[in-house]
Amino acid sequence: MTRSVARPVVCAIATDEAERAAHHRVRRTVFVDEQGIFAGDDLDSHDARDDVLHVVARVGEEVVGTVRLFPLGDGVWQGDRLAVLAAARTAGAGGPLVRFAVATAAARGGRRMVAHVQPANRRFFERLGWTAGGTEEYAGRPHVFMTIELVRRARDDQTAVLDEPGTQLGG
Ligand SMILES: CC(C)(COP(=O)(O)OP(=O)(O)OC[C@H]1O[C@@H](n2cnc3c(N)ncnc32)[C@H](O)[C@@H]1OP(=O)(O)O)[C@@H](O)C(=O)NCCC(=O)NCCS
Repeated sequence: MTRSVARPVVCAIATDEAERAAHHRVRRTVFVDEQGIFAGDDLDSHDARDDVLHVVARVGEEVVGTVRLFPLGDGVWQGDRLAVLAAARTAGAGGPLVRFAVATAAARGGRRMVAHVQPANRRFFERLGWTAGGTEEYAGRPHVFMTIELVRRARDDQTAVLDEPGTQLGG
């Protein structure tokens, strides 16, 4: 089970420009400045979709983490751009973000979620109930293709997310 941080982590879907800007700031800090996976910015065509959901994790007033999700069709959802600011890591924000994404996709009728996961995070996802498939190239680097079934998770994960003090299911 994920530890609680001193102050609760609150996950929510970004609903206005300020929240979306904060979401993109965290992504840029992690994927451009820290990891150098993308040059300049990490925006892609999915960010402009009508059905994309940009999620933020807050501790107090500060946005410390992000995840993005969108449907691929036929009940399959993709989760990506999972990022927690370096200073806020291993304090219990990443787990709630993943479970929030899973619960949100399930609540919207998804039956399976997929992710292209950096190999260093495979165990992190497995501990959250995900299953690893093969290794692949994604964003120019090796990743592990991972999946999670959503049908049963719809109930279990919403309960888990809502059980965390101060954590709410947005959207
Ligand atoms: C991966 C990431 C999102 C995890 O966020 P986090 O806030 O540190 O995660 P949590 O604190 O919720 O971790 C939950 C548990 O997983 C563990 N954990 C965290 N990262 C892990 C990893 N890479 N491998 C194995 N376990 C990990 C934590 O120690 C914690 O264990 P505990 O419950 O026994 O205390 C964060 O490290 C990150 O943003 N990394 C850089 C960007 C990145 O790699 N994004 C993902 C792309 S696939």
